[in-house]
Parts: sequence; structure tokens; C-alpha cells
Amino acid sequence: MEKIVLPDIKDFHILDVYLQHGGYTAAKKAFTQSPDDIIDQVKRSGLRGRGGAAFLTGLKWSFMPKTTDKPKYLCVNGDESEPGSFKDRQIFEYNPHQLIEGTIITCYAIGAKVAYIYIRGEYHKWIKLMQKALDDAYANGYLGEKMKEKFGTDFSCDIYIHKGAGAYICGEESALMNSIEGKRGYPRVKPPFPAQNGLWGCPTTINNVETITNVPPIINKGWEWFASIGEPKHPGTILFGVSGHVNKPGVYELPSGTLLTDIIYNHAGGVPGNKKILCVIPGGSSMPPLRGDQIEGVKMDAESLKAAGSAIGTGGIMVMDEDTDLVKVLARIAHFYHHESCGQCTPCREGTGWLEKILKRLIAGKGSVSDLDLLITVANQIEGNTICALGEAAAWPVKFMVERFRDYFEKRVSKEISLPVANKVHSMRHTAIPVEEIKH
Ligand SMILES: Cc1cc2nc3c(=O)[nH]c(=O)nc-3n(C[C@H](O)[C@H](O)[C@H](O)COP(=O)(O)O)c2cc1C
Ligand code: SF4
Repeated sequence: MEKIVLPDIKDFHILDVYLQHGGYTAAKKAFTQSPDDIIDQVKRSGLRGRGGAAFLTGLKWSFMPKTTDKPKYLCVNGDESEPGSFKDRQIFEYNPHQLIEGTIITCYAIGAKVAYIYIRGEYHKWIKLMQKALDDAYANGYLGEKMKEKFGTDFSCDIYIHKGAGAYICGEESALMNSIEGKRGYPRVKPPFPAQNGLWGCPTTINNVETITNVPPIINKGWEWFASIGEPKHPGTILFGVSGHVNKPGVYELPSGTLLTDIIYNHAGGVPGNKKILCVIPGGSSMPPLRGDQIEGVKMDAESLKAAGSAIGTGGIMVMDEDTDLVKVLARIAHFYHHESCGQCTPCREGTGWLEKILKRLIAGKGSVSDLDLLITVANQIEGNTICALGEAAAWPVKFMVERFRDYFEKRVSKEISLPVANKVHSMRHTAIPVEEIKH
């Protein structure tokens, strides 16, 4: 299977190697066409965002105003702070020039002269690697004023890295823009949407790192080629980050629509000790969890996962075997969202605290069956009542896990389930996976 985002080419991160394999020819080709043509091709390719919501990329670009006296901006989102998601850092490390080339083409398509690549603050190693690639691109005339000569075009653009400072909420697109502006990372009320009123009040497009890295091959090989890969409504490959109870955790690039069981049992090597799967969260910790006995036949693309009662999110697949303490897992997830709530909206600020408190009560063995209903009530009061989607991110895992594992939770409350002392969900925090273990 051809890999689009993380090709199996040795030293592909080095500019010379990237050039030997056709690097920067897509940008050259793009400059011979109009920005509208580029947007049209990306629209036809069916490329959907890989940052969580799977929104159509070409459609998003078309929202940018054609005539404006304001500068336009592109933000490339590499905040990657969702637990269970660790795929963008693979691009920073193994394919930074394709990301740079995709950023150049996107800037040209939307009319931006400046792009910011926003990188998670803890990603020191990947910030350095990405900066090195940018420095090499500048030194060789692929960025900045010199690119006019290199590409024979009137267009030029600049790319800057902006480091996060450890806040998950800064991955939310409007908080990300506030963060770049030097303000507190508070999400903004929408509308107005970023294409009208983004960075410094100017038209702005925000796309995920993986989304942008898909753009050069689409321009070079044609939208028809891309649209023919995987599921027609969500075409292309997806980087699936697999963590938890699997023998080979790592990042696997596979066509959209690959069976979840194929990813877990074949690519990620199955479950240690051949244990049964109790639960899988298929798209990063904020997505609705699936019961292990309901994953047969589930395909990994936006439409199929929606039909199965979950969502593709960031493609971060978290596997939990039959010995997992789901109450502890859920309490850990609830703690994360409570800690990361920016505090602007009362339902999120207070509700996330309630969720955590109730779950900790269950862990302490002091909960009752009515607490299960209370968890769902609190989650329902957060969902849909907040400024940004962190509300849903906090509510969904709780609501759906309690609903779908009601039998488990009731037995746990009535102490019918005794749990192994050493419970080992070895990588619920994605940073726990040593990078050497990550395959692609
Ligand atoms: C709380 C929160 C955190 C988010 N974190 C990220 C992130 O780390 N990376 C990302 O690409 N998108 C993140 N998103 C989604 C972005 O708001 C935005 O939709 C995305 O960057 C758009 O890119 P795409 O269309 O290419 O998917 C987050 C959203 C929310 C609500
Ligand atoms: S939903 Fe939560 S994180 Fe988002 S703006 Fe409201 S309080 Fe902040």
C-alpha cells in the first residue's frame, strides 16, 4: 500500500533526499495554476481535516474572502495534545519538507503570505527538527523572497514556528489564534468564524499538520488518484496512532476504511496474552468509547464510525483489555478535561469538576447506582452549552462509557467486580510511548 504522508523512504526528512524524490515539484506545479484551481482540486480530492472534525479541506479554503485589504494567514495546527494522539510529531520528524511544501501551496491557494506552525510546547525535539527543516528550506530558496526566483513566480511566503506552552485548549483553533497573538488561550465565540475574523482580526485558515501534508501529492498526482484511495466519502490514508493494550503500539498509515480489528490484530500485533478487548476509544480520548464486543466490522473513516456510534477524531485508537479498570480510566480522562478546561463557561468549568469528583467517589468504593445517572445528567448539561468543543470532549467519554458499560459500572459500584491490583494501561498518556517503539 502506498503511503502518502509517511513514505518508507530512508532519510526523507533531509532536504536533498526529499528533492531526489520529487520534493517541491508540487509547489512548482501549483504556481503554474490559479489559486482557485488549486482549491478546486483539493475540493474534488475529498480531503477532510485530520485534526478531529473531518471537515472538508477545500471547502474550508473557499471560505477565505477573495477581495480584502487585510493580510490573510494560515495556521498549521500541531498542538497535538489530545490523549491517545501522537501522529503529527511523526510528520515533524520524518517528513517535515512535505509539510512545508503543503503549507506553501495552501498559502498560495488562500492568498496568505504568512503561516504559523503551532507546535505543542512539550515537543522540544520536534520543534528543533521542524526548525532545522525550515532553515534548510530558507537557505535553499524554497521559502521567503528567494522562492520567487526558485519557483519562477511572483508569490512568496514566510513560515514561523509558534511554540505552545502546555495548554491542551490552545489546540482549539480560536484559542490557538489568541495564543499566537500573545493573549491567554481562551476560545472565541463563533461566529465570526476565522475565515472572516481570525488572527489579528484578519481572514485566517486553520488546518491540522497531517491535513496539510496530504496537499503536495494531491497536486502532483491529481485529485482523482487521491479520491480513489480508501472510503470515497473520506478518501486517502489516515495516520492511526494505536496505544494501550496492544503488542505493537505505534503510528500506522493505512487507507481510510481499514477495519478497526485489522489495525488492532494485524498491524498492532493483537492484545498481549490474547486477552479479550473490553473497550476501544477509536479517535483520541474525547471520542465515544466502543464496547469490545461491538468492534467487529467497524471501519475507520468518518461516516462508518459515526454509524457505529463514535467518531474518527484524530485517529488515536486506545485499546483496553478485559482486565482494565474502566472506572479508573474514565476518572483519569475526566481529570484531564477538568484540568484543561479554560474556565470561561460555567457548564464546562463546574461540570468537568463534578464528573471527576463523582468518578473518584466510585473509585473509592463510596459511589451508588444513582451516581451513574448523575454522571450522565452532568455530561448532558455540559454538551451543547459551551463556547468550544472541549465541553463535548469532556462529556462524551463519560456519557457514552457509562451508557454503553452500564452493566460493568453497576457491578463495579456494587463491588461485584474485583480488579487486579496492578492494572496496566501502559500508554493512556501518549507521551508514555518511547519514540523508538513507534512504527510507521
Ligand atoms: C479542545 C480542542 C483541542 C483541539 N486540539 C487540536 C489539536 O491539537 N490539533 C488539531 O489539529 N486540531 C485540534 N482541534 C481542532 C481544531 O479546533 C481545528 O478544528 C483543526 O485544527 C482544523 O484542522 P483540520 O480541518 O485540518 O482538521 C482541537 C479542538 C478542540 C475543541
Ligand atoms: S467549553 Fe470549556 S474549554 Fe471551551 S471555552 Fe468553555 S470553559 Fe473554556
